[in-house]
Amino acid sequence: MFENLQALPEDPILGLLAAFRADTATRKIDLGVGVYKDERGNTPVLKAVRAAEQAVLADQQTKTYLGPAGNEQFNALMTELVLGSKHTAVTSRRVRAMQAPGGCGALRLGAELLVTTGAKPTVHVSDPTWSNHGPLLSNAGLVLEKYPYFDARTGTVRFDAMLERLNALPAGDVVLLHGCCHNPTGADLSLDQWRKVADVLVQRRLVPYVDIAYQGLGEGIEADAEGARLIAATVPEALIAVSCSKNFGLYRERVGLLMVLTQSEAQTNASVSHVRKIARGIYSMPPDHGAAIVARILSDTKLTEDWRAELNAMRERMMKLRNAFSAALARTGKAEVAAAIANQRGMFSMLPLKPEAADTLREKHHIYMTRDGRINIAGIDQDLVDFLAESVASVL
Ligand SMILES: Cc1ncc(COP(=O)(O)O)c(C=O)c1O
Repeated sequence: MFENLQALPEDPILGLLAAFRADTATRKIDLGVGVYKDERGNTPVLKAVRAAEQAVLADQQTKTYLGPAGNEQFNALMTELVLGSKHTAVTSRRVRAMQAPGGCGALRLGAELLVTTGAKPTVHVSDPTWSNHGPLLSNAGLVLEKYPYFDARTGTVRFDAMLERLNALPAGDVVLLHGCCHNPTGADLSLDQWRKVADVLVQRRLVPYVDIAYQGLGEGIEADAEGARLIAATVPEALIAVSCSKNFGLYRERVGLLMVLTQSEAQTNASVSHVRKIARGIYSMPPDHGAAIVARILSDTKLTEDWRAELNAMRERMMKLRNAFSAALARTGKAEVAAAIANQRGMFSMLPLKPEAADTLREKHHIYMTRDGRINIAGIDQDLVDFLAESVASVL
């Protein structure tokens, strides 16, 4: 049976990482994989996470099953973190959360729920969007289409074109929106633009699917959730997929959740019963450890304070690197790209490069990035910003 299977090509990002590691040049920069890195190039365990982890291990009485919805304290605390404690979706009990194996697991659960409704909605994703949105949603059986989003020349959102497309979509279709820190472009909607999008969603009876994977790494914990909060306060139905991988640095623990918002408490409960069944049929129940850590942090004032301070420090470091790179690019005369990078937010920016230019940067300058020009801001070496800017400017 298995002789029919041909080996697939290596994942391009992991291939890039392997090539970077094998590169013997002393001056080299890795802007590929989307994880936070400190000034030494490490992705450390947060101190608050380590403390919470020790407390969890010390207190744990059992490892018996928790059930497909996972840790309910985690679900409640994370709902509060994303939506805020007094959100109308929460007080009206129209929203419920299910712990999931990472943001990816949450996205897939939501996709399976959309399929289960039998409504066969098309899911509209931004052009471009995170490369994993494709397989996560279409492997569940959904059809994906793109809406205009990013103007590579100006590095900004093509908002008029986006709105025009949303205005032409059939009722019942789903619109995937990045809650903050758009991956791969770093170009986010302003609050005013979120308002306009929310109005169109209501008028056209479209269902938003918000993916929020970088809360706290763009403008701050509250500011980064404003779009998702506004959407959840405006529309009758929505899905929100949340990842704790980046903002808690829990990548390999696989921590996330899916929030389901419907028109009534009863409908939400019914929908969540389907999500539970879907989870049962795929992985039965999510892993506990990471969610227990997050629940511990968010239920402890001191740990929450420590975590917020560490998250702020990560965000500030990335802003500093972003601004330094932008200033260095401006010095090379690339004013427009420099301005765009300064205005973008989060872990990524997208340089207006042809794939061959990314190849040249890798081969000639030992600067590694995906061939679409996406760069991980946290991978920038403060001491090498001028070298990076001059190399990039030479291929722009
Ligand atoms: C836009 C976006 N959504 C969701 C995720 C999900 O991440 P994870 O499954 O690691 O929690 C990521 C991770 O890179 C992402 O960039």
